[in-house]
Amino acid sequence: MMSGLVQEKDGYEKMKGTDEHHVSPSSGQDEKQSGLDEKQVLENIDNTLKDTDFPIGKQYKGKVRDNYLLGDRRLIVATDRLSAFDRIITALPFKGQMLSQMSNYWFGRTRHIIRNHLLDIPDPNVVVVHECKPLPVEMVVRGYLTGSLWRAYAEGQRFLYGMKFNADLRKDQAFDHPLITPTTKAAYGTHDTPISREKIISEGLVEKNVYEQMEEVSLKLFSFATRELEKNGLLLVDTKYEFGIHEGQLMLMDEIHTSDSSRFWEEEFYERRFEAGQDQEALDKEYVRQWLLSQGFKGDGEPPTLPTEVIVKAVLKYHTALERITGEPLAVRQGDVLERITTNLKNKGYLP
Ligand SMILES: Nc1ncnc2c1ncn2[C@@H]1O[C@H](COP(=O)(O)OP(=O)(O)OP(=O)(O)O)[C@@H](O)[C@H]1O
Ligand SMILES: [Mg+2]
Repeated sequence: MMSGLVQEKDGYEKMKGTDEHHVSPSSGQDEKQSGLDEKQVLENIDNTLKDTDFPIGKQYKGKVRDNYLLGDRRLIVATDRLSAFDRIITALPFKGQMLSQMSNYWFGRTRHIIRNHLLDIPDPNVVVVHECKPLPVEMVVRGYLTGSLWRAYAEGQRFLYGMKFNADLRKDQAFDHPLITPTTKAAYGTHDTPISREKIISEGLVEKNVYEQMEEVSLKLFSFATRELEKNGLLLVDTKYEFGIHEGQLMLMDEIHTSDSSRFWEEEFYERRFEAGQDQEALDKEYVRQWLLSQGFKGDGEPPTLPTEVIVKAVLKYHTALERITGEPLAVRQGDVLERITTNLKNKGYLP
């Protein structure tokens, strides 16, 4: 039904990154204050975790996380690397810790909906999880018409992901119900590809009954988080879930409702900005994407170096998201990140 209609072949990260709206990296009047201060970020500007190389298990390095495969378990280190347009751009102080904290928060709060992979948190940047057999489809759930979906729609496409869209929709408009726009999970270095539910099932990527369960769970998680975030004045715009099979059963894996896997907008500005056709106040990495675009970077060639002020602002945005999502500020730890992680992993028996 949809093959040939969806021309966009790039991944969710990439797709999320190419909105061509106006760039305003400087502080807007709608900016909210956060707790972690500029001084602390500046003091730690070079204290970032860029890379790890522990002598355990089989290594798999994702763009953001270093994975150590330990048989039926996996140790995942959230580094401070920032990816955009499917490229590693820079490292942001405290980013790994903040993302881990967000994800762990949601893993703890969604167990009534679905089992998840989390087993242990030996360090603020590290989780130990059940090794799953990953299902090859990423479940992207969207509450609003924005990002790559908006771009495809604005190009005139009306059949997307196996669904038909009305002709009178506007950028950033809320859908009546959240939509699932699945993508196939790309092998390293390639982009994820949009796919329809029909194709996922007919091509046997995921068994029908399992896929139906993934749909049900994804929508439940999305509506749960939507309601929770509303209490904190945040809109959950879209997000991505990854599932695997563990001991024959569906399990939620990877990360959940973080600033890397989701878009969050400030509820209080939404309506006014939507009516005025202005961009939303985003608490995800959109700020960095927009800055990169303002420098003419769309993923090809050498990424530009982020000026200190852009790094600081990006870190403070992640921190605002963390505080607003979890209700708790970052526990700032002094000292070298890699040293701390190494000590914690040794003490807990994960490193010799
Ligand atoms: N419990 C789990 N079992 C198996 N694989 C997992 C589990 N949790 C997460 N993963 C996988 O581990 C990786 C996490 O690293 P990261 O997200 O940085 O990689 P990535 O950038 O998504 O990888 P790639 O760059 O290929 O997409 C992902 O490939 C994710 O699918
Ligand atoms: Mg990933």
